Amino acid sequence: MKRILVTGGLGFIGSHTVVELQNEGFEVVIVDDLSNTTLKVLESITEITGTRPTFHQIDLRIKNDVKTLFKTLKVDGIIHFSAFKAVGESIQNPLDYYENNIGSLVYILQEMRDRNLDNFIFSSSCTVYGQADELPITENAPVKKAESTYGNTKQIGEEIIQETCKAHQLNAIALRYFNPIGAHESVKIGELPIGVPQNLIPFVTQTAAGIRKELSVFGDDYPTIDGTAVRDYIHVVDLAKAHIAALKRLINKTNKQNFEFFNVGSGKGSSVLEVIKAFEKASGQPLNYKIVGRREGDITSAYANTTKANKELNWKTEKSLDEGLASAWKWQQRQ
Ligand code: UD1
Repeated sequence: MKRILVTGGLGFIGSHTVVELQNEGFEVVIVDDLSNTTLKVLESITEITGTRPTFHQIDLRIKNDVKTLFKTLKVDGIIHFSAFKAVGESIQNPLDYYENNIGSLVYILQEMRDRNLDNFIFSSSCTVYGQADELPITENAPVKKAESTYGNTKQIGEEIIQETCKAHQLNAIALRYFNPIGAHESVKIGELPIGVPQNLIPFVTQTAAGIRKELSVFGDDYPTIDGTAVRDYIHVVDLAKAHIAALKRLINKTNKQNFEFFNVGSGKGSSVLEVIKAFEKASGQPLNYKIVGRREGDITSAYANTTKANKELNWKTEKSLDEGLASAWKWQQRQ
């Protein structure tokens, strides 16, 4: 049985990936500092899969703790989710973002180098493309100057990994996520935003649940189908499965280069108003919203060309936007 270390394994995407890993017969070791999640998620993973993953509460910014972890740990691969992810906060606190998102990455890669560990999967983001010149976005689209510190940590992270792969024979894959939504069908795990949600879908579900008065739609004067911004919403379970596909590619040594990157999206663009309509249908109730001005830093449109991931990873999405929204709504109601 292959043993996989999952950092940030109790987070939104991490927890769904741990479930898929266990379903596929991998043994999972989770590291999480519980800064943005709770131990209840570990119980939920155990309930869903019938197997309790090993868990260590560790702050990966503390180099000595990372060293101690790896002293006794033999793993066949690492999926590194743990990072801060709030765009606005990252602009206000750049140093905290660099310390956490870059520092912990470097410490883990150093341990991999020193202990001859291989097979590293990195959570990257479509934010590296900025507003791409051509849609849908392929992996050939150039990386553009980051609009936020958060975005920059993803770009720098990819560069650090690429250089490490070259110097030390490490094999790694960066997955550039589009917009993950939804929850596991068991409704035992899902997204747990702390405070006022910044992302669209949690704000939508909290508005429908009466926690928020109304949703503000940021801008209706974009050059899109209905004036609202277009994004590629991917079901988190589909996204989780992309990690398994990428991991198998590395473990089976079918990767073509030491460092590879893939877009992971649904391949379909949806406007904010289209999402609202689809949500109203999925939930069976009207959503209270108003149009306001654009949000600073937002781009017009982003959706993925997923051909590379489809072919090379032998992976494709199985769930629709409607399923993603319906599961997000069920999850909200369960809270
Ligand atoms: C955002 C981040 C991106 C990050 C991703 C992680 C920004 C500028 N980008 O992407 O770097 O990788 O989250 O999930 O923050 N919207 C509303 N009202 C709301 C919230 C959102 O109209 O209350 C709109 C936004 O303008 C956007 C769309 O919904 O057009 C999606 O927004 P969001 O969920 O925040 O994701 P992104 O902005 O695409």
